[in-house]
Amino acid sequence: MAAPLLEVDRLEVSYGGVRAVRGVSFVVDEAETVCLIGANGAGKSSSLRAIARLVASRGSVRYAGDAIERLPAHALAARGLALVPEGRGVFARLSVRENLLMGRYARRDALGGDLDRIYAHMPRLAERAHQLAGTLSGGEQQLLAIGRALMSRPRLLLLDEPSMGLAPLMVAKVYQVLAEIAAEGVAMLLVEQNARQALAVSHRAYVMESGELTLSGPAAELAGDARVRAAYLGGD
Ligand SMILES: Nc1ncnc2c1ncn2[C@@H]1O[C@H](COP(=O)(O)OP(=O)(O)OP(=O)(O)O)[C@@H](O)[C@H]1O
Ligand SMILES: [Mg+2]
Repeated sequence: MAAPLLEVDRLEVSYGGVRAVRGVSFVVDEAETVCLIGANGAGKSSSLRAIARLVASRGSVRYAGDAIERLPAHALAARGLALVPEGRGVFARLSVRENLLMGRYARRDALGGDLDRIYAHMPRLAERAHQLAGTLSGGEQQLLAIGRALMSRPRLLLLDEPSMGLAPLMVAKVYQVLAEIAAEGVAMLLVEQNARQALAVSHRAYVMESGELTLSGPAAELAGDARVRAAYLGGD
């Protein structure tokens, strides 16, 4: 059995006296889609930010066989680990195309075809290549943030609430793109409050409550779990 692509062991994140992440351990295998669901303030974003080296943490994070918990954030993209942050973070005053090219700087081996590949997944971005990113709709900005991360040719994509604030049709569009990317063999760690959507596209899932993982298993199994249904799927 090969080692997991991402192996998080006893991860802890504290902000001053607040223990946001309290010793969580989980894995993501090569080409696997895993979601982390949980209520507001559970520690989901903090976990992603710790893996991406954007906040200090304790515990170990191994990626592709290497300990990465001491590497600077910028070293990760070059290794194929990319984060699509909560709130998207596109460069408002740059065009769509310029935003995408920013995503490529981390990879010296990036190829000329990368832009075309992104545009094939997201024709909406191709149509708007020269539009300023700040004038895109919320959903289009989300697609752009995903496209920018894809420009680094990731092996593992960390996604923080990709459906937040989007209307149902746009949520479906974003998730369709994520499914296409997953089908190409890119592993994903997906953080979502939209548990229904996340469970539908994931192989496995973890439930986070107050900084700890309380449930885990195949996504289809958790979607049918009475506790998950009551707390995260509207109790139907
Ligand atoms: N920079 C920070 N400084 C202080 N406390 C923080 C900081 N970031 C997060 N926290 C706290 O850590 C806890 C976990 O926050 P986190 O953003 O990880 O939760 P989350 O599960 O992503 O929630 P949400 O679903 O609302 O995005 C919360 O209590 C939050 O207030
Ligand atoms: Mg969050």
